[in-house]
Amino acid sequence: MTKILIAPSMLAADFLHLDSEVEKVNAYADIFHLDIMDGTFVPNISFGFPVVEAIAKKARKPMDVHLMIVNPEKYVERFAKAGAAMISFHFEAAREKSEEVIELIHSHGVKAGIVINPDCPVQAIFPYLPMVDFVLIMSVFAGFGGQKFIPESLERIAAVKAELRRIGRPEVPIEVDGGIGPANAASIVEAGASILVAGSAVFKAEDPSAAIEKMRG
Ligand code: DX5
Ligand code: ZN
Repeated sequence: MTKILIAPSMLAADFLHLDSEVEKVNAYADIFHLDIMDGTFVPNISFGFPVVEAIAKKARKPMDVHLMIVNPEKYVERFAKAGAAMISFHFEAAREKSEEVIELIHSHGVKAGIVINPDCPVQAIFPYLPMVDFVLIMSVFAGFGGQKFIPESLERIAAVKAELRRIGRPEVPIEVDGGIGPANAASIVEAGASILVAGSAVFKAEDPSAAIEKMRG
């Protein structure tokens, strides 16, 4: 059975107390998910290098940087230097440059992921499945935390999983992001995901560690 990894999204943390927020999930999380928004690719701005570097000092698990920015190739190197172990970029932002961006991420010794929003046909990323280290399927439109999971995402996860199997790469993890919590985690895993991103469900929970363990279960 595939191991299920839980990736708390720091976007939902209390930025005034980043130190203790990281500590809250350090022992239970598998990955730290960091959402980078530029106000252009998405209508919101989150945080940048100083925050990522601060989290890196404290995080005992790998950092997964989710770039919601135009021209992702411009910033890959800096996020790699800031300590990212995984970097994902949106296909919609890179289009025909996608292969180049994947190679650039790899050249920094970082795992490369390609991301699609809910309105992007899954087939658009099929050409890149032979070269990525993971796929990120958005289950809400990128830009804001706290949105509701879009149920059609389940079929999209299954379709990407089927294609990964078809090309002989069933081990490539599918990460899913947006509106995930203990109530829907099982169905998302059943569809084929193995990395679950959760912001609100972790940081707004009374007991973040219990929320993580419930999702893993
Ligand atoms: C949305 C971000 C997500 C978000 C998830 O653009 O990519 O990672 O923080 O937050 P929740 O779990 O609250 O939907
Ligand atoms: Zn994200």
